[in-house]
Amino acid sequence: MESVSKRTHKSRDPKYTKILLTGGTGQVGRELQSTLRSLGNLWAPSRDEFDLAKPQSLRDKVQSYRPDLIINSAAFTDVDKIESEPALAQAVNAEALEVLAEEAHKLNIPLIHYSTDYVFDGAKAEPYTEEDIPNPINVYGNTKLAGERALQANHDRYLILRTSWVFSNKGRNFLTTMLRLFQEREEISVVEDQLGAPTSALFLAEATAQILGHLRTKDESENRWGLYHLTPSGRTSWHGFAQEILKRAIDHKQLMIKEIHPIPTSAYPTPARRPKNSSLDTSKLVREFQIELPRWERGLL
Ligand SMILES: NC(=O)c1ccc[n+]([C@@H]2O[C@H](COP(=O)([O-])OP(=O)(O)OC[C@H]3O[C@@H](n4cnc5c(N)ncnc54)[C@H](OP(=O)(O)O)[C@@H]3O)[C@@H](O)[C@H]2O)c1
Repeated sequence: MESVSKRTHKSRDPKYTKILLTGGTGQVGRELQSTLRSLGNLWAPSRDEFDLAKPQSLRDKVQSYRPDLIINSAAFTDVDKIESEPALAQAVNAEALEVLAEEAHKLNIPLIHYSTDYVFDGAKAEPYTEEDIPNPINVYGNTKLAGERALQANHDRYLILRTSWVFSNKGRNFLTTMLRLFQEREEISVVEDQLGAPTSALFLAEATAQILGHLRTKDESENRWGLYHLTPSGRTSWHGFAQEILKRAIDHKQLMIKEIHPIPTSAYPTPARRPKNSSLDTSKLVREFQIELPRWERGLL
C-alpha cells in the first residue's frame, strides 16, 4: 500500500482555520470555496496574485500568509493545448508543486493536491490502483506525474487525490459542451471506446471536506497521508456520459438533438492521446476514510 508519513507528530492536526486555496476560479476550486468557507479564513488568490507559472514567486507569499493548510486545485488542464506548451505545463503542474511542497514542509502543514487518471496509459483492463505503475501517454499526464513526484519527494504530510473526467455546471467541460450541442445540432458523434468515471466538481469538494474532517478528528491521522484515487462509483464511456446527460436534459430544455452516434477514438483525432481505460480503483480511500462513493450519475444536473 502507498503512503505514509515518515515523521511522527505527537499532537493531532489543529482545526484548519487558515487555508490557502489555489485555483479558486476553476471547476473544483469554485466548489471548494463554498464547501470550505465555514472552516475559517480561506485565501483563494487569483492567478495574478499567485501565479504557478512563476514558481519561485510563490515562496514569500506562502510564508507571509502562513496558512495551516494548502489545497492546490490549480493546474494547467487543457490536455490538447498542453501538447504544444510543455514548458508552461511543467512549470504550473510540476515545478510549482515542488515549491509548494517545500514551503508546506517548512511550515509543517498539510498540502492537498489533485491529480489525474491520465498518469496511466489505459492499457490495463481493470481499474487502476494506487500501486499500478504510471505511464502517461500525453504531456499533461507527464507533467501531472512530475507534480505528484515533486510533492512526494519534498513533503510527507500530503494527500494526492487522483480523479477523472471532472465536470461542473459552469465553464467549459464535457457536460456544458454537450448541453450546448444538444441545442444546436440534430446529430453528434461521441467516442465510445474510452472508459472512466465522470466526476462532479461538487462531489470532489464535498469528499475533500469529509476527508479533512477525518484527518482532524482521528487519532491515526498521521498514517493516512499519501496517494488516493477519488471518483464516484461505476464507469461509462464518453458516449454513455452524453446519453445520460441527454436523458436528464430532455425534460427541461428545448433540444434539437435526435441522434448521438458512438464512434471509436480513431474517428476523433486530437493533439493529445487519451488512455482507453481511465477507471480508478477507489477501495483504498473507502477503507481509510469510510467515505461512501455515489454512482457517477448522481452528480449530474
Ligand atoms: N478537468 C478534468 O477533467 C480533470 C480530470 C482529472 C484531474 N483533474 C485535476 O483536478 C484539479 C482541478 O481541475 P479543474 O477541472 O477544476 O481545473 P480548471 O477548471 O481547468 O481550473 C484550473 C484552475 O487553475 C488555475 N490556473 C491555471 N494556471 C494557473 C497559473 N499559472 N497560476 C495560478 N492558477 C492557475 C485557473 O485559473 P484561471 O481561472 O485564471 O485560468 C483555474 O482556477 C487539477 O489538478 C486537475 O489536474 C482535472
